[in-house]
Amino acid sequence: MNPCPQEVRAVKFVLNSDVVVTESPALLAASELLRSLGVFSVRETCGVGVCGTCTINVDGVAVSACLTPVFRLDGTSVVTSEGLGGPKGELHPIHEAFLAEQAFQCSFCTPGFVLATHALLSDVASPNESDIEDYLSGHICRCGSYANIRNAVLRASRLRHLSDQA
Ligand code: FES
Ligand code: FES
Repeated sequence: MNPCPQEVRAVKFVLNSDVVVTESPALLAASELLRSLGVFSVRETCGVGVCGTCTINVDGVAVSACLTPVFRLDGTSVVTSEGLGGPKGELHPIHEAFLAEQAFQCSFCTPGFVLATHALLSDVASPNESDIEDYLSGHICRCGSYANIRNAVLRASRLRHLSDQA
């Protein structure tokens, strides 16, 4: 049942391999709760689902944390950029591709792009230009690093093929 305004609920979910049990205003944005837990890759900018900087992965689906109320996290598994590479904060091949291609300037948008790339490569092993445009269209880079980001996505796709063949 949807909560009333001001309602506080207990929520339990897995966050990057750790179990989180907490009480929170049920309608609080997940981005606010996650940042209060020290997950600073989740960055709220527009707050209305337009820019992609707050993207998280909930049960395998990339969503905007600014539009996800906390009560929706109950019973889910949440992955952020910090947890993508493993429980000890190891770099994921997508992180490595973004570093190798210098696919950022200020890097404020980067965690969102990384998670969008992860969603893309989970669905499409060898993305073409149109796939990249589709999956990354909800993400804004105010520094205009789009060409390098595109190269990073292609590099990550190639790295994945190599690791699949290993
Ligand atoms: S802050 Fe969530 S989409 Fe912009
Ligand atoms: S690198 Fe600065 S907003 Fe994208």
